[in-house]
Amino acid sequence: MSIDNLTSETQAALAYAAGRQEQHLAELLEFLRIPSVGTEPVHKADTEAAANWLAEAMRAAGLENVRLVATPRNPLVYGDWLHAGPEAPTVLVYGHYDVQPADPLDKWQTPPFEPTIKDNYIYARGASDDKGQVYIHVKSVAAYLQGAGRLPVNVKFIVEGEEESGGHSLAAFVPENEELLAAGVALISDTQILGPNQPALVYGLRGMCYVFLDITGPDHDLHSGSFGGGVDNPLNVLGHIVARLKEPDGRVLIPGFYDKVRPLTEQERRLLAEYPLDEAAWLRETGAPQSWGEPDYSLVERLGARPTLDVNGITGGYTGPGVKTVLPSTVHAKISMRLVPDQTPQEIFALFRDYVTAIAPPTVQVQCTFVHGGPASLIDYTIPAMKAAAAAYERVFGRKPVYMREGGSIPVVGLFQRYLGMQTVLMGFGLTDDRIHSPNERFYLPNYYRGIETAIHFLAEYAKRAMSAVG
Ligand code: BES
Ligand code: ZN
Repeated sequence: MSIDNLTSETQAALAYAAGRQEQHLAELLEFLRIPSVGTEPVHKADTEAAANWLAEAMRAAGLENVRLVATPRNPLVYGDWLHAGPEAPTVLVYGHYDVQPADPLDKWQTPPFEPTIKDNYIYARGASDDKGQVYIHVKSVAAYLQGAGRLPVNVKFIVEGEEESGGHSLAAFVPENEELLAAGVALISDTQILGPNQPALVYGLRGMCYVFLDITGPDHDLHSGSFGGGVDNPLNVLGHIVARLKEPDGRVLIPGFYDKVRPLTEQERRLLAEYPLDEAAWLRETGAPQSWGEPDYSLVERLGARPTLDVNGITGGYTGPGVKTVLPSTVHAKISMRLVPDQTPQEIFALFRDYVTAIAPPTVQVQCTFVHGGPASLIDYTIPAMKAAAAAYERVFGRKPVYMREGGSIPVVGLFQRYLGMQTVLMGFGLTDDRIHSPNERFYLPNYYRGIETAIHFLAEYAKRAMSAVG
């Protein structure tokens, strides 16, 4: 690894960042204290407060045209700096300031919105997903603009507040703002690397089809003694329907579900087989008694390259303390399907609805609602921006990144591809045991600082590669 060939700008930015770690940490903790749970109405004002806080931090970094874009739900935050010169490329940084709900609260060892540092980790909701990671980019830009007076590339930021709840407002914004968002490449830090010292470039994400299933029987709750045996119970029906959605080994039973799944090539199976996942450590982290899934696929394949169907929650009937004897009138299930190329959310929803409608007994009414969705993405890992990311990781972590397909979803990647013809570099800094979406979410503090350094190098490496047009 060579540390030469750095421009004076890049050196100044690195020195700026190195001298301000304490301040960078204090600012992130402030951001994490704002409970911006984007999906919960009680946190509406907090979510807006987080957007405003971020906009202020972006202005302080030296970004221009910083503004909140009002939407029917949570505001988008936009900002740019476009003075790198006519030859210089543009990088579009994306992230999200909304966080997942913190429940179950009693499982947190420290309060979710009182960030706590323990053993080099910051514990807080949103620490890894995604406030800590998006703030890395605000600080890398600040390091250039405050430390060197300029950036090697033009940058634009678009940060949303609805990523965790489906990204409706951004999905409407992207197709209508092609020019505002135009850039050579998008840069996102919202993924995970393999280990504290082993970077990973994600070149695939699964897509999503999220469905609500509502089942109604009688028009009011009934006494389960007076009516049980004479009127069907929607909760029992829901159990039967869910049981027929997939085999116990994971194969989805919806007819046509796999029709569009692009088969894995031998070459990609070999690439994925090289991915050094420590399966025993991975399983230990889950706490589950054993791993599970489709028999004909390896764990790495099942996690990133195969589609899934999961029930995320069921409500209905009596769930309070003690007992109540009742046939509930209406019950609900929230079901997500993770998609792979070339499944589309619309087609998968139609297959789901047709199948569920066909297997539902005439004793109930079923309603399927499409809630949100986005296609899977695959990114060409040989493009110059990917090489710039690999070089930046290597400079800071001292190791080349591994390449992987991620099982989670970042719907905007597909939108950028489809509407802006733009590829995305997924240069993450989280760790697989950060417990995102779970109690005790955390972010490894050394990689917050390394993230800022890596982002500084990425902008320099990308400028170099894009301007000389060499790969
Ligand atoms: N940061 C995650 C995506 C992710 C998950 C990356 C796991 C790496 C590992 C993102 O914020 C997320 O959770 N997205 C949602 C999107 C969904 C609501 C459309 C997801 O994957 O559930
Ligand atoms: Zn995220």
